[in-house]
Formats: sequence, structure tokens, C-alpha cells
Amino acid sequence: MLQRENSRILLLAFCIIFSLFCCNQARHSHSDKSPKPGNEDNHNATSYFDVRTFGAIGDGLTDDTEAFKMAWDTACQSESAVKVLYVPSGFSFFIQSTIFTGPCRGHLVVKVDGYVMPPDGPESWPMNISRRQWLVFYRVNVMSLEGGGLIDGRGEKWWDLPCKPHKGPHGTTLPGRCDSPVAIRFFMSSNLTVKGVRIKNSPLYHFRFDGCINVHIESIHITAPALSPNTDGIHMENTKDVRIYNSVISNGDDCVSIGPGCFDVDIKNISCGPGHGISIGSLGKHNSRACVRNIRVRESVIKASDNGVRIKTWQGGSGSVFQVIFSNIEMESVRNPIIIDQFYCITGDCTNKSSAVFVSDVEYTNIKGSYDVRSPPIRFACSDSVPCTNIALSDIELLPAQGDTVLHPFCWNAYGDSQTPTIPPVTCLRDGLPKSLLHNDLDRC
Ligand SMILES: *[C@@H]1O[C@H](CO)[C@@H](O)[C@H](O)[C@H]1NC(C)=O
Ligand SMILES: *[C@@H]1O[C@H](CO)[C@@H](O)[C@H](O)[C@H]1NC(C)=O
Ligand SMILES: *[C@@H]1O[C@H](CO)[C@@H](O)[C@H](O)[C@H]1NC(C)=O
Ligand SMILES: *[C@@H]1O[C@H](CO)[C@@H](O)[C@H](O)[C@H]1NC(C)=O
Ligand SMILES: *[C@@H]1O[C@H](CO)[C@@H](O)[C@H](O)[C@H]1NC(C)=O
Repeated sequence: MLQRENSRILLLAFCIIFSLFCCNQARHSHSDKSPKPGNEDNHNATSYFDVRTFGAIGDGLTDDTEAFKMAWDTACQSESAVKVLYVPSGFSFFIQSTIFTGPCRGHLVVKVDGYVMPPDGPESWPMNISRRQWLVFYRVNVMSLEGGGLIDGRGEKWWDLPCKPHKGPHGTTLPGRCDSPVAIRFFMSSNLTVKGVRIKNSPLYHFRFDGCINVHIESIHITAPALSPNTDGIHMENTKDVRIYNSVISNGDDCVSIGPGCFDVDIKNISCGPGHGISIGSLGKHNSRACVRNIRVRESVIKASDNGVRIKTWQGGSGSVFQVIFSNIEMESVRNPIIIDQFYCITGDCTNKSSAVFVSDVEYTNIKGSYDVRSPPIRFACSDSVPCTNIALSDIELLPAQGDTVLHPFCWNAYGDSQTPTIPPVTCLRDGLPKSLLHNDLDRC
């Protein structure tokens, strides 16, 4: 009896020690340098790869690039189902422009709890390294970027380059080397999640997604000064299946910009501004063909911005923008809350062309708030040669932010209707469809 009791206690003690040991392993193993292929337990475990165990110092001065690369390569190849490349809090990591390349096995989580920063401005950027991007994730299959840390793009010195807008006398731009890095680029990757991260002051766009499939962005926070040039929050092109939810973005350019080749984008509950609002475009630059379809922006706030919801295309392009829904959006002091601009031009010497990106099936529902009275709150400036069609407005209520000067909506070659009375009333949309469309061979891609 006593002996059986003893052996039970022994067994129990063994179990407790064993489980403690296991948990400890899961929580603290910084690298699993001896993965056991074929081992079920091993396949299920989460392994941590702390950049410090690969030699990162995190004092804000030492170049930790090699440590990050090594941690990435090791995590990427590890057999565990979930691998966490861990950037701990309480440290400040200095890293050069780096391309983190996949594909990796399983699911890789990059967890940034610490502070991460690039070289401080163009003078410190190595001459032999591209100035177009800082951190690149290339050809990754399943990856999450998360954590409660801060990614600081240290953009100030880039914004001050003489070539940037308005750095010359009288608002001009001076010549000189101008390329500046995007802070974080995902390139040719899929099944991406960006969650909870904070990023500020990118030299150029904060995030750029190109050639990606299935992107989920959730609860992120992007900040840069209102006057920082080209600091778009999230820019995407040739990317499909994108969800951007519950995020806050204030910066000096577009909050979100949706470029050519984007399909199935859902944006919900985001707060934009100050900045330039949410843009589809610019499209059709240098006579290019652009296709954008099924874009939804809903339950969001846009404040102190140059534009609210904008579609911008250059003269001379081709292709189309189809099936766009902007709904339940609150505008606060926005200069152009609702705008389609098919004469987009930043060089100042654009001519009108006979082709343009075709814009059709755009719905604006429940868009309310105030506009800054420098320009009409609703503006549909469509091409002479290619009209916009099927524009549908309902529950629009836009009032001047100050004073009581009401500006009338502007339409040019725009077809559609208001399904409910709107404030201000929109009487400039043309009914039905243009005759020219029946004869024109438009590129509905
Ligand atoms: C591994 O994970 C799967 C799915 O979560 C679970 O069904 C299975 O029981 C786990 N196996 C082990 C050995 O923990
Ligand atoms: C850039 O130059 C530095 C110093 O000359 C060298 O160590 C580094 O390997 C070079 N990097 C690339 C990507 O060529
Ligand atoms: C990731 O995305 C690709 C499409 O690019 C898909 O084929 C694949 O099944 C996805 N992987 C996972 C694990 O979801
Ligand atoms: C909307 O996003 C904000 C900011 O992230 C968040 O605090 C809030 O809970 C979200 N609202 C809903 C309904 O999810
Ligand atoms: C292009 O066409 C629009 C609309 O007809 C017109 O207002 C504008 O002045 C033209 N621009 C040029 C550069 O000819």
C-alpha cells in the first residue's frame, strides 16, 4: 500500500516536473537548433527565435542587421508549425535595408515588441544599397507581423531633400537625387497578417504591398506629420484579397492608396487624417493600362484631409475601375470629400488624350459631415472621351465646415443619379448611359 502510494507520488512529481520543463521549453527556447524531423510534438510547438540570441545588441547604435538575417533564416527553416522571430521590448535595434526572403516552412510570426530603426537619413544610407526600400519581405507564404513595439522610419532628413515638393523658392521643387525608401514592403507574398503594430515617420510610404494575395491588416497605427511628403499609410498594387480593419492613420499623403491591379479590397472602421484621404489611383500614368475592381470602404472617418474618397486617373490611360462602394463614412473638414478626377496631373504639363481609364459602377451611400469650403464637396470630373457611368448617390449630407457658403457640386461628363435627396443637391449628373459608349470599344477588364 505504502509502496503504491509512493510510486503514485513519484509519478505525479515526475509529471509536474516534466510539464514544467515542457512549458519552459516552449516559452523560452530561443532557437530550436536541433529540430527533429517527423516528431509530432515538434511539429505542433511554437519556437521562439530571439534576435539577441543571434547576436543583436539593441543599444540603438550597433548595426544588428546580420543578427536579424540569421534569426530570419533559422526561423524560416525551422520545422515547427509556428515560428516566432522575436524582437524584444526594452531594446532599440538599428538595421540596414534588408530583404527577408521566403518561402519558409509553416507559419512565421515576426513579433516586434522593441524599437526598430533604419540609418538616419540619406547621408547615412550605404551607397551600394537600394534607396527604394528598407525592410522587405519577399516570397513569403504565410506570415504575421505583430507586436506592441515601434517601427520608426526616421524620415525627417529624407523629407527635407531639396528635390521634395515645395523645398525650393515659391513652392518649387529643386533638382537632385530623390529616391527615398518605403519603410516596409511585402513583395510577391501571400497570406499576410499585419496586426497591432505601430509605425511612424517613414521616408516614403509606410507599407507597400505589391504582387501579394490575401492580406489582412488589423488594428495598426501609422503616424507622420501632415506636411511630410509622400508618406502614404498603406499603398498596394497588383494585390488582391485585402482587408484593412480597425486602424488609425495620420500622415502627409494618402491614408490608403489602391493602385493598378488591385481586386477585392475591403476597408472597414479606419480613421484617416490629417492626410490626403483614401485614393483609388493614380491610374493610367504614362498611357498605362490599369484594372481595379470590387473595392469597398465603409464605417470609417476621414478628417482634416485634402480629399475624402477619391478616384484619380491620368489622361491617356486605359482599363477600368469597376464596382466601388463607399458607405457610412464621416467627413470632418475635408476639402474634397467626394471626388473623381480623370485629369490627374502632377507635372503641370499634361494634355488631354482620347483614351482614359473607364470608371463605372461607383456607389456613395451615407456619407456625412463637413467640408472645407475651398472647393465643391462633390466633384466628378470625367474625361471628354470616356465618361464615367453608373454613379449612384444616396444619403449624402455635406455641410460647410465654417460659414454658410454652399458650393455646388461639379460634374463633367458624368452619368448616374441620386437615389435620395442629397445635401447639397446634385443636379449635374446626366441620366442613363451615353451614346458614345455603345460605339466605343471600352476595355472592361
Ligand atoms: C497537434 O495539433 C493538432 C491541431 O491543433 C491537435 O489535434 C493534436 O492533438 C496536436 N498534437 C500533439 C501531439 O499535441
Ligand atoms: C556594401 O559595401 C559594404 C562596405 O564596402 C560591404 O561590406 C557590403 O557587403 C556591401 N553590400 C552590398 C549589398 O553590396
Ligand atoms: C497561401 O496562399 C496561396 C496563394 O498564393 C495558397 O495557395 C496557399 O494555400 C496559402 N497557404 C496557406 C497555408 O493558407
Ligand atoms: C474601430 O477601430 C478603433 C480603432 O482601432 C477601435 O478602437 C474600435 O473598437 C473599432 N470599432 C469596432 C466597432 O470594431
Ligand atoms: C481637358 O479637358 C477638360 C474638359 O473638357 C478641360 O476643362 C481642360 O481645360 C482640358 N485641358 C487641357 C490641357 O486642354
